[in-house]
Amino acid sequence: MSSTFFIPAVNVMGLGCLDEAMTAIRNYGFRKALIVTDVGLARAGVAGRVADLLALQDIASVIFDGAKPNPSTANVESGLGLLKESQCDFVVSLGGGSPHDCAKGIALCATNGGQIRDYEGVDRSAKPQLPLIAINTTAGTASEMTRFCIITDESRHVKMAIVDRNVTPLMSVNDPALMVAMPKGLTAATGMDALTHAVEAYVSTAASPITDACALKAITLISNNLRLAVRDGHDLAARENMAYAQFLAGMAFNNASLGFVHAMAHQLGGFYDLPHGVCNAVLLPHVQSFNASVCATRLTDVGHAMGGDTFRSSPEEGAQAAIAAIVSLARDVEIPAGLRELGMRLDDVPVLAANALKDACGLTNPRAADQRQIEEIFRNAF
Ligand SMILES: [Fe+2]
Repeated sequence: MSSTFFIPAVNVMGLGCLDEAMTAIRNYGFRKALIVTDVGLARAGVAGRVADLLALQDIASVIFDGAKPNPSTANVESGLGLLKESQCDFVVSLGGGSPHDCAKGIALCATNGGQIRDYEGVDRSAKPQLPLIAINTTAGTASEMTRFCIITDESRHVKMAIVDRNVTPLMSVNDPALMVAMPKGLTAATGMDALTHAVEAYVSTAASPITDACALKAITLISNNLRLAVRDGHDLAARENMAYAQFLAGMAFNNASLGFVHAMAHQLGGFYDLPHGVCNAVLLPHVQSFNASVCATRLTDVGHAMGGDTFRSSPEEGAQAAIAAIVSLARDVEIPAGLRELGMRLDDVPVLAANALKDACGLTNPRAADQRQIEEIFRNAF
């Protein structure tokens, strides 16, 4: 099977790497940045600090702090307006998945024209986006290095998946020093999102030896470090390992794609405005229980990567060990046990399942499913 491997051209990583990243940004010769961030990072002064660091490199900037959690088509429109008005020649995204996705939408429309909903689907744009430098402050979505852009269309209450090689950032920056301020709940949710990326990519029908290597290393790093990062946010070794882990999981799913966990979680996020990582964490064991009949050996590898003694197990026992290890990690980092706690209503299950079956992420799930089976997984996760 042939495959194409997508990744940003330059990826700066490790404790204190933001300074090195600034030198690299200067060397591109940009003049003025639109810094896309959220209100929290703007109020905490982090966006201002990035603007100051850019100014030291003789680069002007303007801050757009309108990237909401689950960024919307309206957020993209507002940011695009400010970019044009301010005549910026590149975009810097600062934050977790929401600012990065919002920035991708802005940068893509800036060069291709039209509205972001025109680009829903796979590789629908014609031109490269405006150059995007993605500075990450969470350890989970990997949006700073992927070709995935998820924007909520508020008029339809759906999360649109824009999977487009042209939204790949020019450069990604992962400095764990920017991640220590993440609260426990966000650390847990984003870390479980990264685990979901790695597991879904590993059992994906589009997995390759490259994505397998990335996924298994990510799973081991998350299994060994997420509890530590949640317990003590200032544990820099755990933060750095989680930064590498989520990047590796990003390398895996950016190229092997995902599965029904994401296809279903996107619907919960779009319908109830729920945090993406928490939805994934609740659904992950239930979808893998559904998948186990077709990929037990692969799930056994997942269990082994999470530290389970699976060498003498049958594939079925190995798959169950993996699912138990996922449940145990989610419980230890205080993820809610079911979708009931998140506010999902059973009456909504048929429409959520119908929309999940239309989500492009489900195409590479190892086991096909119909409406009734997806509804059953939602109910099992209730
Ligand atoms: Fe995700």
